[in-house]
Amino acid sequence: MKKRVLSGIRATGRLHLGNYLGAVKGMLELQNSPNYETFYMVADVHTITTPYNVEELRKNRREVIIDYLSAGLDPEKSTIFQQSEVPEHIELAFYFSSVVTIAKMQHLPTFKEKVKQYPQNSTMALLNYPVLMASDILIYKAELVPVGIDQEPHLEIAREIARRMNQDFGTDFPQPQRFKTEGEYIPSLTGAGKMSKTVSGSYINLTDDPEAIRKKILAVPTASTSGGEKTEGVKTLFTLLKLFSPKSHENFEQKYEKGNLQYLELKDFISESIFKKLEPIQKKRKELEFDKEYIDRVIREGNEKAREVARKTVEEVKDKMGLKN
Ligand code: TRP
Repeated sequence: MKKRVLSGIRATGRLHLGNYLGAVKGMLELQNSPNYETFYMVADVHTITTPYNVEELRKNRREVIIDYLSAGLDPEKSTIFQQSEVPEHIELAFYFSSVVTIAKMQHLPTFKEKVKQYPQNSTMALLNYPVLMASDILIYKAELVPVGIDQEPHLEIAREIARRMNQDFGTDFPQPQRFKTEGEYIPSLTGAGKMSKTVSGSYINLTDDPEAIRKKILAVPTASTSGGEKTEGVKTLFTLLKLFSPKSHENFEQKYEKGNLQYLELKDFISESIFKKLEPIQKKRKELEFDKEYIDRVIREGNEKAREVARKTVEEVKDKMGLKN
C-alpha cells in the first residue's frame, strides 16, 4: 500500500520563493517517489478566514494551480485540485469540531497572531482554521504533509483529532507527520522574520526576472565589514546561497571569515543562482498560460478524483457517528 500525502497552499496570491522552498519542493520530491500517492490542493476555503478580495480569490484559486503545474506538479502522478470543489472537507470539519474544545483553539499561537493582525476579524471561520486543515489531511487518510515548520501546531491538532475520533468512534485515521525539507524556513529579505506575501520587500516571486531579483537581493541589508558574528541580513544571504548554490557556500564562507568578502559579488552570485532555478519554471508557465483547455481539464479531473476518495471517508465517518440509515 502506498502512503498518502496531502498538502496545500492558501490562494492569497501567486507563489513566491518561500512557498516553493518550504512546501512545493517537498511536494515534488514525494510526487516523484513511487512509494506515495499524492494529493495537492489550493486551499481556497482557508483563504476566506482572513479579510480578502473576492475578485482576487476568483483569480488566485486558478493561478496557484498554474504555478503548481509550472513548478513540476504532474497531474499524471498527483491529484491536483481545489479545496472548495470537494465540499466534503467542510462537512467532515464540522463533524470533527464536535471533538475539539473552543479553549484549545483560542490558545493556538497561529490563531492569536491572526487576531492581532486583524483585530476586527476574530471569526468562527478563523477559529475553525485548524479543524478544516485537519479535515483536509485526514479525509485522504494522509500520513505525510509537506509544509513549512510554522504549520507544526496545526499538525498537532490534526493528530489529536485523529486520536479522539479513533477512540470515540472507532475510525482508523493515521497520525499525520510533517515532511521536512531543507528550505523550510526562508528568511525575509528585509533581514527580520520570514519571507511572506504580506510583508512587502520580503519575498521574491517565482515570476521575477533577473533584474527584479537582483534589485531585491541588492536591497538586503549587509554589514560594512566581513568576519565575526553575522548580522540578520548577512545570515539571510548565506541561507539563500546554501539553498541555491551549495557548492559555492564554502568558498564565500571562507572569504567572509578572512574578512575580504565583497558583498556585491556575493549578491550578484546569489541573484544569478536564484534566476537559474526559476527560469525553467517561468518558461513552463508561459507555455501553460495559453492552454486554457488543458488547465480546465486538469482542474476538473483532479477535483473529481479527490472527491471520490473524500466521499468514502465521509460516508464511513457518518456511519460510525450514527448519522446514516
Ligand atoms: N495552513 C497552510 C498554510 O498556511 C495551508 C493549508 C491548508 C494546508 N490546508 C492544508 C497545508 C492542509 C497542508 C495541509 O501554509
